[in-house]
Amino acid sequence: MENKPQDKIDNIMYSYATDVSHLEDENRILKETLTHMKEELTRMKSNPLMVCDVKEIMGKNAIIRIPNGNSFYVDLSQDLSDLTPGDTVLCEQKNLTIIKKIPRTKRFDVEKFVILDSPNVKWTEIGGIKDQIEEIKEVIELPLKNPGIFKKIGIEPPKGVLLYGPPGTGKTLLAKAVAASTKSTFIEIVGSELVQKFIGEGAKLVKEIFQLAREKAPSIIFIDEIDALAATRMDVGTSGEREVQRTFMQLLAEIDGFKPLGNVKIIGCTNRKDILDPAVIRPGRLDRMIKVPIPDEDGVREIFKIYSKRMSLDKKININRIIKGMDGFAGAEIKAVCTEAGYFAIRSNRGTIAEKDLIKAIAKVRLEDDDEDIPKHMFG
Ligand SMILES: Nc1ncnc2c1ncn2[C@@H]1O[C@H](COP(=O)(O)OP(=O)(O)O)[C@@H](O)[C@H]1O
Ligand SMILES: [Mg+2]
Repeated sequence: MENKPQDKIDNIMYSYATDVSHLEDENRILKETLTHMKEELTRMKSNPLMVCDVKEIMGKNAIIRIPNGNSFYVDLSQDLSDLTPGDTVLCEQKNLTIIKKIPRTKRFDVEKFVILDSPNVKWTEIGGIKDQIEEIKEVIELPLKNPGIFKKIGIEPPKGVLLYGPPGTGKTLLAKAVAASTKSTFIEIVGSELVQKFIGEGAKLVKEIFQLAREKAPSIIFIDEIDALAATRMDVGTSGEREVQRTFMQLLAEIDGFKPLGNVKIIGCTNRKDILDPAVIRPGRLDRMIKVPIPDEDGVREIFKIYSKRMSLDKKININRIIKGMDGFAGAEIKAVCTEAGYFAIRSNRGTIAEKDLIKAIAKVRLEDDDEDIPKHMFG
């Protein structure tokens, strides 16, 4: 009983203490809210940053290009020492101070813009170009599969190769087959698309493609219609021409930049070797050239065999006559003849392809061929 007043005091003290800690909590929360709101306010007051490209680094300065295409000479702060040309940065709009670099992965999703593939074309699916197969094996396959032999002998394998010749003769097929035989990533870009679709971004895309190729190595960069990028130009007057020129320069820089013994190879492809800028085939670049021609008679026979193997052909067909009828056809046309002949048979409700189906198919393909306005002698 004599403890009673003491109990009362204890109780009061206790309730004060809880009140104080309550108030302290509340105070802390209010302070936090205040800082948060202050931050939000400064964030809302600040100007949006401009996305710019770094063109050149010159010691403590850099040349950047702002989105409207104009270039500026700006100061670089110390914490941006790892900046390289081609990087994308965020700049303040007023004084163009570089605030920060945008990380590579968030910049440009290059995989969306190229065809990434692991082809499964076999050498046996290619007909009539044996020498070309041997050559591409030597130039691309051997250094990828056995780089040691080049080191031992002391020579440098080529960085890449140029395939040229009329359309439909199997250039893409060759490139895919060598990618398959070396288990390489096949990165396909089309020169004309690079020029038309990625206006202002072509050079950057080229840079990213080579970066991607290194990441996915062993890889083969296949540049179809390389003439669209690397055509000899009379003048580079228009901004479009300058843009193509920039993209081309970046391509050359990338080719020059990597080691021949690396496991990235380039295969360029063109139907128009006549208009190709010789810079691209200079020593150390795509200095090996493989001509892929229209097949000769034996070639036609071989290609026809590949496609007719799976078809049910009438036994009575005079194959020699059919082969002669396809004189001058490229592989793609021979394949088209087989498909068309199949359709003629289906239309007449027959289960096998007769000689007349093939003859009609040849006539049809030849007619389509004649409609093309570019004469064949124009090609490489
Ligand atoms: N030499 C060939 N042997 C077998 N098929 C061929 C050959 N050349 C072309 N073809 C067929 O024609 C298609 C188109 O050929 P492609 O390799 O794209 O020609 P290019 O790249 O030279 O224009 C191929 O997918 C293939 O079906
Ligand atoms: Mg092709």
